[in-house]
Amino acid sequence: LPSHYVLPSGDKIPSVALGVWRSEKNKVGEAVKTALKAGYRHIDGAWIYRNEEEVGQALKDSGVPREEVWITSKLWNTFHDPEDIEPALDESLAKLGVDYLDMYLIHWPVAKKDGQPYDKELTENPYPTWQKLEEMVAKGKVRNIGVSNFNIRRLQNLTANPLKIKPAVNQVEISFWVPQPELLAWSKENSVLLEAYSPLGSDSKVKDTLAVPEVVEIAKELGMTPAQVVISWHVQRGTVVLPKSVTPSRVVENLQVRALPSELFDKLEKAATSHKPYPRLNPSKSWGLDFDIFE
Ligand code: A2P
Repeated sequence: LPSHYVLPSGDKIPSVALGVWRSEKNKVGEAVKTALKAGYRHIDGAWIYRNEEEVGQALKDSGVPREEVWITSKLWNTFHDPEDIEPALDESLAKLGVDYLDMYLIHWPVAKKDGQPYDKELTENPYPTWQKLEEMVAKGKVRNIGVSNFNIRRLQNLTANPLKIKPAVNQVEISFWVPQPELLAWSKENSVLLEAYSPLGSDSKVKDTLAVPEVVEIAKELGMTPAQVVISWHVQRGTVVLPKSVTPSRVVENLQVRALPSELFDKLEKAATSHKPYPRLNPSKSWGLDFDIFE
């Protein structure tokens, strides 16, 4: 399996990252240290996860040189106005204790300040936001920029603008339950690398994922754990994968991926894409939006 992918910038992004969404306070630091010791070189975080300080401290404590680790953070919805972007980025940099990010993503395609209605114009066309992100690349504060939770329509809208830098990645929910084959095919054709969040089904469905008969069967046959089979499947599909764990043994386990023989890969791919997809994480209602983020 590929240990990394090469982005249009020429940078190499490691294919397996430690995800730190929902990683509990006072646990995430240990998880990061365990991960770096085990050989992870990619940490996927965000401003809104509220743990960038602990992640940054762990990074420092690990002794692994900054330039050897791929660090992603994300711009929160409240900071899409161009004037808010650099301060938000600076806050993430300061908390992480680094002077550049390897990747900075627009976290959601929603420009919305707390307690206010969403900014329709900036949500429909985030070009001003994107231009500011391009400026952050030019300034050297960020090496690569991308998006998250964008559907094909939104990516097409954004890239219809005269961009200097195209979105390198799109981070979306992908799991056995939400396999997103159309988005995957489109992204490959259009040179946008997908990053799979909640790759094990997130907290609520991880048990079900690890009990899928095909997953269990393949794990037995190959002498792998069910989680290793699923994470390997993600990379074999050509995406970055971001398993979250704060359990040291699982953190180590989740990096040990290898290619599934093609007939077993096909079997799992077929099982994932032939059931009805489950509903995705969709905060449209809870954020009081009058539109569906994914439409
Ligand atoms: P924990 O963090 O307590 O170890 P996802 O990456 O899809 O969001 O899934 C994260 C969930 O899966 C967390 O509840 C995490 O638990 C659990 N998890 C992560 N790795 C494994 C593993 N190898 N085996 C079993 N559960 C795992």
